[in-house]
Amino acid sequence: MNKQADPFLVAESNKSAGPIAWAEVGRSHPHESAILHVLGEATYTDDLPELHGTLHAALGLSQKAHARIVSINFDAVKAAPGVISIYTASDFPGTNDCGPIIHDDPILADGIVEYVGQPIFIVVAESHDLARRAVRKVEIVYEELPAILTPVEARAAQSFVLPPMSLKRGDAQQALQNAPHRVTGKLHVGGQEQFYLEGQISYAIPTESKGIHVYCSTQHPSEMQHVIAHALDIHSHNVQVECRRMGGGFGGKESQSALWAAAASLAATNLRRPVKLRADRDDDMMVTGKRHEFYYEYEVGYDDQGLILGAKVEMVSRAGFSADLSGPVATRAVCHFDNAYYLSDVDIKAMCGKTNTQSNTAFRGFGGPQGAIAIEYIVDEIARNLGKDALDVRKLNFYGRNDTEGRNITQYGQKVADNVIHELAAELEQSSDYRKRRAEITAFNAVSPVLKKGLAFTPHKFGIAFNVTHLNQAGALVHVYVDGSVLVNHGGTEMGQGINTKVAQVVAHELGVSLGTVRVTATDTSKIANTSATAASTGADLNGKAAQDAARQVRERLAEFAAKTYGGIAADVQFYAQQVQVNGQSIPFADLVGKAYLARVQLWSDGFYATPHLHWDSKTMTGSPFSYYAYGAAVSEVIVDTLTGEWRLLRADALYDAGNSLNPAIDIGQVEGAFIQGMGWLTTEELWWNKAGKLMTHAPSTYKIPAISDCPEDFRVKLFKNRNVADSIHRSKAVGEPPLLLPFSVFFAIRDAIASVADYKKNPPLQAPATGEAILKAVEAISAG
Ligand code: MTE
Ligand code: MOS
Repeated sequence: MNKQADPFLVAESNKSAGPIAWAEVGRSHPHESAILHVLGEATYTDDLPELHGTLHAALGLSQKAHARIVSINFDAVKAAPGVISIYTASDFPGTNDCGPIIHDDPILADGIVEYVGQPIFIVVAESHDLARRAVRKVEIVYEELPAILTPVEARAAQSFVLPPMSLKRGDAQQALQNAPHRVTGKLHVGGQEQFYLEGQISYAIPTESKGIHVYCSTQHPSEMQHVIAHALDIHSHNVQVECRRMGGGFGGKESQSALWAAAASLAATNLRRPVKLRADRDDDMMVTGKRHEFYYEYEVGYDDQGLILGAKVEMVSRAGFSADLSGPVATRAVCHFDNAYYLSDVDIKAMCGKTNTQSNTAFRGFGGPQGAIAIEYIVDEIARNLGKDALDVRKLNFYGRNDTEGRNITQYGQKVADNVIHELAAELEQSSDYRKRRAEITAFNAVSPVLKKGLAFTPHKFGIAFNVTHLNQAGALVHVYVDGSVLVNHGGTEMGQGINTKVAQVVAHELGVSLGTVRVTATDTSKIANTSATAASTGADLNGKAAQDAARQVRERLAEFAAKTYGGIAADVQFYAQQVQVNGQSIPFADLVGKAYLARVQLWSDGFYATPHLHWDSKTMTGSPFSYYAYGAAVSEVIVDTLTGEWRLLRADALYDAGNSLNPAIDIGQVEGAFIQGMGWLTTEELWWNKAGKLMTHAPSTYKIPAISDCPEDFRVKLFKNRNVADSIHRSKAVGEPPLLLPFSVFFAIRDAIASVADYKKNPPLQAPATGEAILKAVEAISAG
């Protein structure tokens, strides 16, 4: 434990009693596991020491997109070396379902298969390798049924996993008719594989009295607990789910870790032996859902300046074979179609197309990016049609400045009360030298016939909170031990984003101790009950507040005890620099804690938080679902080879509004990571299914995520100075997902470069991902005629 006084006291904020003087928050601390990550000593689920008798499972997958299973012959599987047992759908004592909202999601296919890759059975064997080899020996006779393979086909067949959604404000039809100009079009934006480095994994250990303890790589331990309890027909108190950390989740382990957890638990319970189920990368990609691909048809009216007067859009997503989180993803897309722009008259329809493919799920941004990219595509076209710089058209359409201009109610009725996009955009326009570079690029392109440069500036506004109000709650436990060390538990999960570091900072700050004194341990359903998924970027917001509440209670008890012991009043006792200031004396924190223990003071506490002022009516799609908005903008410059479709990102500037950042180093890391991940989504990452509905891009050999060499050499990421208007944890803002929208600027810079081929007179019909092939198609389309 660090016993030295921390030099980072912020004297000017030392206005009242308590630890506000102590600045463990707002500082760039390294990630709590950074050294372990680098040394390879951080334990992931597969690194846990295996218990004696551990067995390994593998899943048998459907080879058909849609079929009735006529018969299954397991003879060769049973005869394979090392095989212990086989389970199918009928072996679940409870419900064979892992659907998070709608119960249409079998853990194991039962009679009907609905996509290539759907799990049908579990094989348990002596080793991981033997289980995988045995699975392949099955003989299944299928009777094939017609399959729907794309969202467009799904819409034509009216095949949806949920009823279509609609949000209207004003009279879009009338506004379109009256508008001086109109643009109509279609856009296809592909999906994206989460590609967490650690794949799906669960290690299930049977315990006494029908109990089960599951180590699971999951963003949602409570949901895993419920699914396992229902599948095994036991109570939740018999199921303990634990997760120290994930090697990435990105939304892919919010609901989709459930299948693996339930399958491992079924086998472990039956065999009374520990069972580990770890997905091979190809299986992981074949089985699990991804970011939803979207298809849009739009019609927008605008005036001579480019001001949008009315907008109609229909969005169809690729939901896959079951609902999973497709409903909330579509809702967030509808709520982010405005992005940073005020749309007076809108008519938005969203449909979740039921397709015979993997059931798509959460992925960083959760539909927000899919909603916002459509309007950005439209604004980009409006600007080109008017021969204006797209940045000017963007600025013209921004939400009004706070309370001075109106134009500040979103299409779903929430007031935008914290708008900083004008100031943020102005700062980035300046710092990125946007206008000067625009002129240089135009000059470069005029004399460069093949290599073309492009530049784009894109903004974002992203709503923070779960749309579903009740999910916005969190709990925490803070234990202060007699030696003065502190242990924290909270309901959030660590997936690399730094939530444990931030929560530890909050607790250290509250107790006036240094960060090294505080340890955060594994998320565990037996410590914090009924947690929400660590998702919607709310992890640090919710759990930070809950941990603060717990730490504050311990501190208040200690202050009272200190005043009683040393004189003075509790309200004047201060905690900072590992010391407690009481009645003119400075007592080491650990000494006071030791004395308080002997005096029988409770040295631990629980804490709770529920985000106030949220409401949402899912029927009318109106309300105030968000606690606040996180803003950002980016400028990207690319060079495109218009003969090969190859391109490079030459420079990227990003400015992100993290409020009073809890930890600027971690936040900048999140912005950089989200930027590159979003760039991958919109450029190189292509999911491709063959005509039989089989995903052919199911490994890094065929599915290209960005590598370090794809990062721009000149990458300037900054945080925008801005205290959160909402009463968030230390007035910070969420950072996990919103910056995924920043690389829209890369996509539009590529489109800009392509447009130069036709002297910026035509809109390149570029679709996402902008692969080399897609770029060449767009070049060709505007070169002809
Ligand atoms: N960062 C890392 N390194 N790994 C991840 O899996 N997931 C993202 C984001 N950043 C992710 C990440 C997603 S999808 C979300 S919702 C948030 O982190 C969740 O964490 P938070 O709410 O604590 O920001
Ligand atoms: Mo993030 S997609 O909300 O897990």
